[in-house]
Amino acid sequence: MQTDPRSAATCLIFTLLLSLSSSSPLPSTPPTVCIIGSGIGGSSVAHFLRRYTTSNPHNVTVGQIRIFERNGHVGGRMATVTIAGETFEAGGSILHPKNYHALEFAKLLNLTVKNPPSSSKCLSLGIWNGDKFLFETFWTNSGYSIVRRFFSLANSVKMFLRYGRSLLRMSHLVEDTLGRFLKYYEAFESRPVFESVEEMLKWAGLYDLTAETLEEELLRAGLSPLLIQELITVITRINYGQSVSISGLAGTVSLAGSGGGLWSIEGGNWQMAAGLINQSNIVLHLNEEIKSLSNNAGLYELNSSSGGSYTCHVAVIATPLDEVNLKFTPSVSVPKRKLQHTFATFVRGCLNPDFFGLRRVSDIPELIGTTETSRVPFSSIGTLKQHNEEDMTYKVFSRQPLSEDLLDEIFRVRNETIRINWAAYPQYHAPERFAPLVLDQSHLYYVNAFENAASTMETSAVSAENVARLIISRLSSHSLSFTSDLKSLDNHKQQLHSDL
Ligand SMILES: Cc1cc2nc3c(=O)[nH]c(=O)nc-3n(C[C@H](O)[C@H](O)[C@H](O)COP(=O)(O)OP(=O)(O)OC[C@H]3O[C@@H](n4cnc5c(N)ncnc54)[C@H](O)[C@@H]3O)c2cc1C
Ligand SMILES: *[C@@H]1O[C@H](CO)[C@@H](O)[C@H](O)[C@H]1NC(C)=O
Ligand SMILES: *[C@@H]1O[C@H](CO)[C@@H](O)[C@H](O)[C@H]1NC(C)=O
Ligand SMILES: *[C@@H]1O[C@H](CO)[C@@H](O)[C@H](O)[C@H]1NC(C)=O
Ligand SMILES: *[C@@H]1O[C@H](CO)[C@@H](O)[C@H](O)[C@H]1NC(C)=O
Ligand SMILES: *[C@@H]1O[C@H](CO)[C@@H](O)[C@H](O)[C@H]1NC(C)=O
Repeated sequence: MQTDPRSAATCLIFTLLLSLSSSSPLPSTPPTVCIIGSGIGGSSVAHFLRRYTTSNPHNVTVGQIRIFERNGHVGGRMATVTIAGETFEAGGSILHPKNYHALEFAKLLNLTVKNPPSSSKCLSLGIWNGDKFLFETFWTNSGYSIVRRFFSLANSVKMFLRYGRSLLRMSHLVEDTLGRFLKYYEAFESRPVFESVEEMLKWAGLYDLTAETLEEELLRAGLSPLLIQELITVITRINYGQSVSISGLAGTVSLAGSGGGLWSIEGGNWQMAAGLINQSNIVLHLNEEIKSLSNNAGLYELNSSSGGSYTCHVAVIATPLDEVNLKFTPSVSVPKRKLQHTFATFVRGCLNPDFFGLRRVSDIPELIGTTETSRVPFSSIGTLKQHNEEDMTYKVFSRQPLSEDLLDEIFRVRNETIRINWAAYPQYHAPERFAPLVLDQSHLYYVNAFENAASTMETSAVSAENVARLIISRLSSHSLSFTSDLKSLDNHKQQLHSDL
């Protein structure tokens, strides 16, 4: 049989067009969006999609937006716990003064910003290695700010005596990394739309930090091993439940979260997600877990645990895919990643000074950090509130659940105990591998691919903002592709990417 090369070519082009149109049909109505997850990531995608389409040069509009949440409430890893009648942050708690999206959300939503007690006063810190406190700061309950200032100065001197110039090198490193991160707030003219996490990190000069461990990075920068084993280990164990072998980027982000000026939202950080959802004209489906997501002729069909079936032009995954039971058709491929579980145990009662080889309760530091050793069964114990001399509320973080017996050893009095098992953040490694932001080359997006860089409320919002721009830019270039030839599609895309 003879084949006509021309008809073969026509056939090829036809198949190409067909596959283009089946992967992204030109919607006659504004494209609809389905978002899985109502945390800061999912709610931010909705917010930025609305904001960036109210007036844009390419007249891209977005139709209905649905958010699916398997829980009965929004916020995800932003949640509060109520113990003995008082409410505290149970998950994401601390924001940095330069977390500009979160600051903007607070302002937009008229939420009250507060400084946690730990940052307004001089919190005492002790570094526990299972046998003894290796380092302790001085502390005072004095109400006189001059006295507190003296103590804080004395602590700086004490820290300097132990860790030396390494402390300065550490803060330079953190400042430098933070400075690079601020590029993600630049205006559209100078900030491209990123199609992958790698591209996003390389552009800001942060990618190399994901290729080595925090320990390697810090040793290279000339920090003393003592500082790394003690103070820095304490910080990575508190913030990520992991050692200094996490990637340099996640590690530096966690160091930035231990500085001054930290804040949170009065009444709970989850209100950022609630407010953004309330303001963005969303159809919110609570108690609806998405079980399957299939691409049917270019439309995504999402089926939920309660028997619902929904179709959308665009689908956004705003949750880590590592522990969810979600079936994709066709299947998608993301690098294997394990989540670090953090067991948060809240206790109203009183610590046992004997456990720490101390005589009085008042000798116990308000924040107990720990070194990397199997002799210590917890990562940290922080005092959330002192009700009176021997009546406090504590937050304990650990990598394993704490047994009743163990808690009875650590605490002298325990009037109330609440336990939360968080699938908290990725287990960080170096070099880090990243999942794609676009999972299927069409309109299936993955906000939490960025979590391998670092996991914070703000980084979720930063990734969500880029994903919103990416959706708009790809919607607009795809609809143009039907009226122009393929060559100019690329030009359009380039142009759109810099415009949005
Ligand atoms: C103990 C702890 C302490 C932390 N401390 C801080 C901190 O101090 N500062 C900071 O900035 N960050 C902190 N973090 C990290 C921060 O909380 C997270 O990075 C951030 O909240 C993640 O938001 P997200 O929207 O990306 O994901 P999530 O908040 O996890 O949202 C995902 C949502 O999707 C829902 N979902 C999942 N699967 C489905 C499905 N199939 N169908 C429907 N819904 C689904 C989940 O129920 C969840 O509500 C902390 C985290 C933990 C656990
Ligand atoms: C967008 O819409 C406005 C008003 O309808 C129109 O004048 C303009 O040409 C449109 N722009 C594009 C790029 O289609
Ligand atoms: C913001 O909140 C304050 C107090 O909570 C209230 O007095 C004020 O009217 C609110 N402003 C807006 C714009 O909602
Ligand atoms: C949603 O926003 C409106 C104002 O835009 C406000 O009146 C209402 O209380 C908000 N609802 C929730 C649940 O926050
Ligand atoms: C989703 O639900 C629809 C309607 O009930 C059904 O036709 C379809 O087969 C379901 N898809 C999957 C993948 O279960
Ligand atoms: C806690 O329990 C102890 C005894 O179990 C009791 O004496 C004490 O009053 C309780 N404290 C509070 C604040 O409930």
